[in-house]
Amino acid sequence: MVEHYSVLHREVLEFSKLVAGGIFVDATVGGGGHSYLILKQNPNLKLIGLDKDDFALKVAKERLKEFEDRITLLKSSFKDLDKVLQSLQIREINGILFDFGVSTFQLKLERGFSFQREEFLDMRMDTTQKLTAYDVVNYYREQDLYNIIKTYGEEKFASKIAKSIAEYRKKKKIETTKELADIVYRCYPPNLRHGKIHPATRTFQAIRIEVNNELKDIEEGLEKAINLLAKNGTIMAISFHSLEDRIVKNTFKKYKELKFLEILTKKPITPSDEEIKENPASRSAKLRVGRRI
Ligand SMILES: C[S@@+](CC[C@H](N)C(=O)[O-])C[C@H]1O[C@@H](n2cnc3c(N)ncnc32)[C@H](O)[C@@H]1O
Repeated sequence: MVEHYSVLHREVLEFSKLVAGGIFVDATVGGGGHSYLILKQNPNLKLIGLDKDDFALKVAKERLKEFEDRITLLKSSFKDLDKVLQSLQIREINGILFDFGVSTFQLKLERGFSFQREEFLDMRMDTTQKLTAYDVVNYYREQDLYNIIKTYGEEKFASKIAKSIAEYRKKKKIETTKELADIVYRCYPPNLRHGKIHPATRTFQAIRIEVNNELKDIEEGLEKAINLLAKNGTIMAISFHSLEDRIVKNTFKKYKELKFLEILTKKPITPSDEEIKENPASRSAKLRVGRRI
């Protein structure tokens, strides 16, 4: 079985108890970890699992095969949730979970998400889309690269990094994760190169967000999900960095003000020390939950 720790799964299961029956959407089914637990806990639920990544859907299909008659797995972005439900003739849903970002097994797929190994700069979740990280890094204007690295990476050396990328690619295209990571590394002052996170972390995050249109998808997906919730329907969203969390927080707040949504998590729920020890990648996770009024 492909390994993946489902982040905050105990907490997600607890809130899933609010969804007594009907349709549950796992908007980011990934390896099917959360879906497996939710289906097992609640025999009255039917589950629709979406993912942009064909490989993830293959893994989820295998993982969830004992629930075959209660699941529908589809390749789609959650930003098209309304169209997906229309095609299944479903008008409303009783619960939905978003678990953003990439899964542990995607990091190991040689798609260039990680700078720990030397891989082609790809970073696509949906491998049928055209735009890759290679295109962004080699063909975007320096100013656009700066904006992306600054905004999506919240990187303080964004200007220097964008400039160095533009300089480097005049001589040779930047093809691999390692080449890009080395360029970024050299933009950091020597005394800041060995901090808690690798200097390339933020730049890689920024480029991944750009390639996969992640923040726009999250905005659209959350809006559509809330509008498709049945009365008392539950929405859960797990984010991994401040830009994602801000979108979740603001969207929930907007619908609270419209008296459409009750927010069940005054503060976001974060993993226990025990979970972080078991799975260090969970350390930045934040879960927010809302319920349709
Ligand atoms: C962190 S993983 C989910 C893991 C899953 N909850 C589990 O327990 O196995 C995130 C998944 O979301 C998918 N994804 C990211 N953006 C998406 C989008 N806009 N639409 C659909 N799936 C998306 C990724 O391909 C990845 O498989």
